[in-house]
Amino acid sequence: MGVGPTHSIRICPSILSADFARLADDVDAVAAETDWLHVDVMDGHFVPNITIGAPVVRSLRAHTNAFLDCHLMITDPQKYLPDFAKAGASQCSVHIELGNTQQLISQCRDLGMRVGLVANPDAPFASFADFLGYVDTVLIMTVFPGFGGQSFMPEVVPKIEQTASEIATLGTPTVLQVDGGISVITAPACARAGANAFVAGNAIFASSDPLVAAKRLRESIVSALKHGTSS
Ligand code: DX5
Ligand code: ZN
Repeated sequence: MGVGPTHSIRICPSILSADFARLADDVDAVAAETDWLHVDVMDGHFVPNITIGAPVVRSLRAHTNAFLDCHLMITDPQKYLPDFAKAGASQCSVHIELGNTQQLISQCRDLGMRVGLVANPDAPFASFADFLGYVDTVLIMTVFPGFGGQSFMPEVVPKIEQTASEIATLGTPTVLQVDGGISVITAPACARAGANAFVAGNAIFASSDPLVAAKRLRESIVSALKHGTSS
């Protein structure tokens, strides 16, 4: 169940684990294995950490044509979505925990961006199920957001399965993304559960060869989908 064609797998390196002083070089180094570039935006309020915002998206957009997948971990996305659209974001993902979901989805659409909806590890499937037909991507967090380099939470896998099954029932092309502690060890179970987009920060950029690390991550997923469906 939930096993889609392997060509639809998206590897999404998270620049949170890159070297911000050499961001263009780090992004270029993994370009050959990047489907979406994942941009973690944190405001020190919704999560206990501060990272980057629309100005960095603007600089990235001037440098690359890559799909810029912006994960907004901020309290007040409606205030900043226009800045991200103007900066060249391809997609903005907003958290279900904020509420106001239908309006945020419409705002993203009106601004011409793709829309993602994010659910924290403790958000039950029922909290976001009704929105699945209205978003391009659903992002299931496999750690509590705020920091890179945390340990994958295997207890989230049944929710990935449930979400994949509902997407299959709806028959929509909704991307099912996972984020947090994703590596060659943990990605296979997510892939077998039906995830098809894989955010990885530490597993890629903390490696001595990020391009090889991204390639290995993809291979681990392709191989998991080829060999068996047990997790
Ligand atoms: C966590 C962020 C993640 C993070 C993933 O709050 O949303 O995107 O960068 O980092 P790793 O892959 O190191 O867990
Ligand atoms: Zn993220």
